[in-house]
Amino acid sequence: MNKKQALFVCGTDTHVGKTIVSAWLAHHWQATYWKPIQSGLEEDSDSQRVAALANVTCHAEAWRLKAPLSPHQAAAQEGIDIQLHHLTLPSTPRLVVEGAGGLLTPLNKTQCIAHLIAQLNLPVLLVARTALGTINHTCLTIEAIRARGITLLGVVMVGDKNAAQCTAIEHYAQTSVLAEIPWFTPLNPSQLAQLAMPTLLKTALAHTNITDQPSGYLVRSDNTRDAIGQAHNHTEQA
Ligand SMILES: Nc1ncnc2c1ncn2[C@@H]1O[C@H](COP(=O)(O)OP(=O)(O)OP(=O)(O)O)[C@@H](O)[C@H]1O
Ligand SMILES: [Mg+2]
Repeated sequence: MNKKQALFVCGTDTHVGKTIVSAWLAHHWQATYWKPIQSGLEEDSDSQRVAALANVTCHAEAWRLKAPLSPHQAAAQEGIDIQLHHLTLPSTPRLVVEGAGGLLTPLNKTQCIAHLIAQLNLPVLLVARTALGTINHTCLTIEAIRARGITLLGVVMVGDKNAAQCTAIEHYAQTSVLAEIPWFTPLNPSQLAQLAMPTLLKTALAHTNITDQPSGYLVRSDNTRDAIGQAHNHTEQA
């Protein structure tokens, strides 16, 4: 049995910055990247953007859907029924998996991204934006993550720094903000490479072990529900 590491990047919403965080993380963590469900093929796919920003290996998507819609709608337009039960993780030492939209974004008539996370049995890194309203979106998402027994590693905030918002999220959701990602201008590989991973995030990444079973199934070997407790002084993470 080989020890491997993997996590699932989930957002509080679509367009919160999951792909940019995934690229940054894959670069610094020396991981490969997988977007199992891509909807919207007219513009660059998330895998193409990660490959361009982080120069990491991207595994082929399990579903590539043409319309830039929620996966359940994009799939229905093409007569596709997204079925999760045969889906397994690409075999790689370290893997960053990116979801689509948010936790309850539907995939088919009965399942949503939360079911995909449960099927893959991965801990979640939650990406949130630093805009007004984010405390509510983040706390709601964390409540739903915990209600489903999914492990939460912590939160990554994207946008202008807002220490009060981080403190509020940590207090009300009893979690940790593991990293604060600025709005990169310009957005390019060197900007991503220059932003080091904070210690808190590195610590949380120790809770991402999975075990490659001879049966072909991947089993998470760290069963902590919330990887690390609440803590921290945001000025230290700059
Ligand atoms: N830190 C950042 N700096 C600069 N631009 C960013 C940053 N984060 C996100 N963006 C821009 O915001 C837009 C949405 O970001 P991104 O594609 O990462 O969101 P997402 O959550 O992955 O969306 P989706 O749900 O479609 O996968 C993109 O145009 C991206 O380039
Ligand atoms: Mg994305």
